[in-house]
Amino acid sequence: MAMDLDTLHTDGKSEEKIYKEKEELEKSGFKQDKKQEALLTGLLTERLTGGQSFGKIFYYETVGSTNEEAKKKLAEANTDGVLLVADSQTNGRGRRGRSWNSPGGESVYMSLAWRPSLMPEQVSMVTLVMALAVAKVVREQASAEVFIKWPNDIVLNGKKICGILTELNFKRESMDSLVVGVGLNVNGQAFPKELEKTATSLFLETGRFFSRAELTAEIVKQFATAYDRFSLKGDLSDLLEDYNSFLVNREKQVKVLDPKQEWKGIAKGINEKGELLVETEAGEMVKVYAGEVSVRGIYGYV
Ligand code: BTN
Repeated sequence: MAMDLDTLHTDGKSEEKIYKEKEELEKSGFKQDKKQEALLTGLLTERLTGGQSFGKIFYYETVGSTNEEAKKKLAEANTDGVLLVADSQTNGRGRRGRSWNSPGGESVYMSLAWRPSLMPEQVSMVTLVMALAVAKVVREQASAEVFIKWPNDIVLNGKKICGILTELNFKRESMDSLVVGVGLNVNGQAFPKELEKTATSLFLETGRFFSRAELTAEIVKQFATAYDRFSLKGDLSDLLEDYNSFLVNREKQVKVLDPKQEWKGIAKGINEKGELLVETEAGEMVKVYAGEVSVRGIYGYV
């Protein structure tokens, strides 16, 4: 993933204005306020220039879904890759047709889109690569004890702080682009009632505010590094140990929600394909690929 950052695209803010705001903000000391976000593109450019950047960067105050917009931009723009970031989403998408709570001024909504040279069976592994990248960044930047709930939820103190949605797009029946979207709850101070028990933010868990721009830049960098290791091998064998060290389900009882029949076992870790190895009560090792695994004690719903 060695792509050069070329142009910076914003929704009308000139770079000059962005840097002026940055200077002012630095003079007044770093504070969590809406202005911080005006710096997003400027900061991202600074952090991502040289080495591991990701093609063109787009920043919007509001979009429907960053995944949808990134896919569009990749098709329109003459570039190998797109990083699209928004302050808020009006139609944030979650997995399994769910929606993603996306208010402005508090969280990271970002999508990376590119045309990968991958086999279809490798695509699901990319989500795990991103999960690892986010988990590492949050642990480093926030010194928070985050874990990964296989395959790709990031949890902190038993609640979800980040979700990842990978979408594969086809053109005339062949793979065209891949979009990986990340929703990370950063500075939010409250959630809608229906999410309160299962969702949390970095602020709620640590009592501190974080720069979304810094987190976004670090996630892109970590992802690029991990993705290079993944592409070199063609599977997750080089990332296995790291990923498994973050796995919240490891050595814990899990419930496998197989549409045919639910069953319980002990999660042992993932293999190089990203499948979860679960030891049944009868001692058999089963590879779980599709279907969701619920974990005892996580989210409080099992
Ligand atoms: C999940 O259900 O856990 C996945 C949630 C993914 C949400 C992110 S927010 C940025 C990107 N754009 C979207 O519409 N969804 C993803």
